[in-house]
Amino acid sequence: MYLKNRKAIVTGGPTREWIDPVRFISNPSSGKMGAALADECSRRARDTVFIHGPIEPSLISMAPYRCVAVETTADMLAAVSRELEENAVLIMAAAPADYSPVTRANRKIKKSGKKMSLELARTPDILKVVAAMKKEGRISELFVVGFAAETNDIEEYALKKLAEKNLDMICLNDVSRKDAGFGTDTNILTIFARDGMRKELPLVSKQEAAARIVDEIDARLPRFLISC
Ligand code: PMT
Repeated sequence: MYLKNRKAIVTGGPTREWIDPVRFISNPSSGKMGAALADECSRRARDTVFIHGPIEPSLISMAPYRCVAVETTADMLAAVSRELEENAVLIMAAAPADYSPVTRANRKIKKSGKKMSLELARTPDILKVVAAMKKEGRISELFVVGFAAETNDIEEYALKKLAEKNLDMICLNDVSRKDAGFGTDTNILTIFARDGMRKELPLVSKQEAAARIVDEIDARLPRFLISC
């Protein structure tokens, strides 16, 4: 109900961190969860933008909203920062790569019989940067939703991320379960909110999961917009 006056910024898909011109570090995120959320938001929000890593083009070929393609985690951070505005809702369903090679070779690295090691550095944590922007007062009213893709101690890690990344809500995927998480058409999620709400969703399509997530967001948005 309150989303209709707000901008929704949704991220989805993986990012790529290049080792050389033919190799990269990434993960199996397909962008399906993010695209389902962007589709749902576009039906309910004032304006929707979908910031995505490399994904199957058919997922968004008919999208009635603006799509911004990015490649690396640093690119995704820059795109998210550009789109932020007061009263917006940010949904981070993307799986940004957490590490990037310290150097990127300009030419293809030739194979040899020897072992090879790769020095990696942390990429920026987009949600932590956004949390710092809120703390510094650079943006005050932003509803932020994170995702957690976990294989073990799943609730503990999800609740830790909710607190550490100063989120309003987090959607936990147990990626060790069949038909949930990366690349699937369905998902099994537990949604936690800052106000203590805990809701388990059954196995449903990513479209249905997106609708339920957006319902929970809408129910928690402040009634009034702050004026900018
Ligand atoms: O794309 P699909 O194939 O449909 O799969 C959906 C999904 C499993 C990728 C999605 O539902 C999901 O769980 N996305 C988050 C995956 C992830 O990166 O989880 P994480 O626990 O590493 O990160 C926690 C949160 O921090 C996430 O909201 C993530 O977007 C964000 N993050 C992560 C890394 C980073 N450098 N910056 C971030 O902001």
